[in-house]
Amino acid sequence: MKPLANPTYLRALRGQSTDYTPVWIMRQAGRYLPEYRATREQAGSFLDLCRNPELACEVTLQPLRRFPLDAAILFSDILTVPDAMGLELSLNEGIGPQFAHPVRNAADVERLPVPDPEDELGYVMEAVRTIVSALDRSVPLIGFAGSPWTLATYMVEGGSSKDHRRVKAMIYESPQVTHRLLEITSDAVAAYLNAQIAAGIDAVMIFDTWGGTLGDRAYREFSLAYMARIVSQLNLGDENDPDGRIPVTLFTKGGGQWVEDIAATGCDGIGLDWTTSLGDVRTRLQDRVTLQGNMDPMSLYASPEQIRAEVKAVLDDFGSPGRHVFNLGHGILPDINPDHVAVMIDAVHSLSRR
Ligand code: CP3
Repeated sequence: MKPLANPTYLRALRGQSTDYTPVWIMRQAGRYLPEYRATREQAGSFLDLCRNPELACEVTLQPLRRFPLDAAILFSDILTVPDAMGLELSLNEGIGPQFAHPVRNAADVERLPVPDPEDELGYVMEAVRTIVSALDRSVPLIGFAGSPWTLATYMVEGGSSKDHRRVKAMIYESPQVTHRLLEITSDAVAAYLNAQIAAGIDAVMIFDTWGGTLGDRAYREFSLAYMARIVSQLNLGDENDPDGRIPVTLFTKGGGQWVEDIAATGCDGIGLDWTTSLGDVRTRLQDRVTLQGNMDPMSLYASPEQIRAEVKAVLDDFGSPGRHVFNLGHGILPDINPDHVAVMIDAVHSLSRR
């Protein structure tokens, strides 16, 4: 395979030197871009867009045409996996994602299959292959999945939820059933990510959006343990492969207190939200892993001057050049002005140039 024209993101994750701090944005292909809204319209709906490899490729590339981003991320959603497990996903503007068949008890759990990703999720693998070919080794492509715990919150609640009451009741009332659900979901996620790797992604990210809502012991037992299990099941290759080992980033929103344990999973990168200091975590982990983050997504509402100052503050908090991938601390919001995104990316590149 030919080398990447811009390997900065992968180099930062592997702990190699870089000319500047690489940057990408969670949800970079999304509603804040008018061209995204137009393509979603053309597809019919968000799910139609996910299931159309040509159009999924188109929206993956849209932010890269506008901004000099250092990575592309597959356009899809974490909830395609439970959909393929038979829960039947729908997504409605204003309501959010919903499952027709939520998982509520032991019998529901035992019925769950581990889907064959090339079959039930073949449209995602086709999108990966289409994007890989369109990118033509310009920048790396990040593939992703949800963490088993985060997927379980949607699978048990039947959709988004304020307090995750049902799934949290389940961990205390029926821990064995919960573990069985997380085991099956982990196997589904590992198979799904391995299929994305076979289809050509260059890096893996696992989104644990709701791990931070768990108590300390429950986080380790019900979220982190299953992410660790997935990391150990991935076909990442090794340092001696001509293209290098595929790096894995774990992002637990609200997970700053667990970074030592997250690093112990063998991941290469840890995503952090804006409530944690990059500099503090760097001191705790001593550059054993790469840190991704962590500008407050809301700071993009500010003026260009304030955005530049905020970027500088994040870079300064991280400190001297090292294992850092710049990002927001969570997904970009739908009403952000794209011009402000351009200011942020330019500031990251120019202020961090060695
Ligand atoms: O980062 C990227 O650009 C890649 C695409 C991506 C999407 N969702 C597209 C999307 C990724 C990586 C995700 C992950 C995802 N999906 C997570 C974890 C990351 C996070 O943000 O915490 C979660 C929890 C979901 C579940 C999900 N998908 C919800 C709760 C919603 C509705 C809420 C909302 O923002 O409207 C979605 C829909 C969704 N996924 C959209 C996009 C662009 C918006 C749908 C639309 O275009 O109408």
